[in-house]
Amino acid sequence: MASNTNVSKTKFTLNNGTEMPAIGLGTFRIKTENAIMSTVDSALAAGYRLFDTAAVYGNEFYLKNAFRTLLPKYGLRREDIFVTTKLSPSNHGNRDVTERAYRKSLQNLGLDYVDLYLIHFPGTANTAADDILNVKIRDQTWAGLASLYDEGLIKAIGVSNFTVRHLQQVISATHGVVPAVNQVEWHPYYFQHDLMEYCKRNGIVLQAYCSFGGTSSSNMNLMQDPVVNSIAKKFDVTCAQVLLKWALQQGVAVIPKSTDPQRIKENISLNFTIPNGDIIALNALGERNIKYAWDPSVVA
Ligand SMILES: NC(=O)c1ccc[n+]([C@@H]2O[C@H](COP(=O)([O-])OP(=O)(O)OC[C@H]3O[C@@H](n4cnc5c(N)ncnc54)[C@H](OP(=O)(O)O)[C@@H]3O)[C@@H](O)[C@H]2O)c1
Repeated sequence: MASNTNVSKTKFTLNNGTEMPAIGLGTFRIKTENAIMSTVDSALAAGYRLFDTAAVYGNEFYLKNAFRTLLPKYGLRREDIFVTTKLSPSNHGNRDVTERAYRKSLQNLGLDYVDLYLIHFPGTANTAADDILNVKIRDQTWAGLASLYDEGLIKAIGVSNFTVRHLQQVISATHGVVPAVNQVEWHPYYFQHDLMEYCKRNGIVLQAYCSFGGTSSSNMNLMQDPVVNSIAKKFDVTCAQVLLKWALQQGVAVIPKSTDPQRIKENISLNFTIPNGDIIALNALGERNIKYAWDPSVVA
């Protein structure tokens, strides 16, 4: 390993002063009560303090049981963990609609507040992606979240899958309410310089999802990429660790998903540094432009 800085405890300071762990656990497709319980158990033991879910993942309720059972086991309190959930594309709308969705998530999670509430996707369910109506509804949704935040019901608000255009639209519509976080697909085969620059300039933290290419079998392309492999060998780490560290070294937070205790540990054990030359080699993979998840660029 190239260096020994402990990154498992690193935090990013969001634009309202809230501190967010740089590494969290993704929970997409972890769908049973037992799987959530054992995964959260392994994650807390390994040092994870951020848990990422969404209304559409259908596991908020299982997380409630896991937190109730496991936080005492590790001597932790609610405020020791950071919980992110997301407003479903079918719950875009005005303040009443967004508040109902938020309160439903709180009830499912058994929490009084979430640390970060995100608009899951810039598009609205049942509205064609290219329909300009998306802009109006999205602006209402963002204003709704801003109002919930102003009332102290949420610690921080943000968005997910927003392009620069979507960010500009909602910030302008709310006269300057800037999302704290934009959670987006981000890995060496797919990352966006313009988005990185815009977020840096405006104090928005980028949080990567699909760091390994996601949960489908096609993610093997990225995990088996020769460049990623050779860097992993050189530093005696795994490809997964290289992919996560590549993001973190750009100031991008990560939320890898695993249900395997060994991998859960591995994904937060990132005390090495990828030298600049290897970062450049990884960045060069961006030419492949392979996207694994849904595409927000088509949304008006
Ligand atoms: N906002 C959005 O629209 C959006 C979209 C997608 C995802 N997300 C969030 O981001 C999180 C991460 O993305 P993701 O779940 O799509 O995919 P991911 O984290 O890129 O990849 C997960 C896959 O990699 C495997 N894996 C994990 N650690 C590994 C390791 N060390 N070595 C080898 N394989 C490993 C996992 O299998 P095992 O479980 O068997 O280890 C799983 O199949 C999600 O869980 C979710 O919370 C958000």
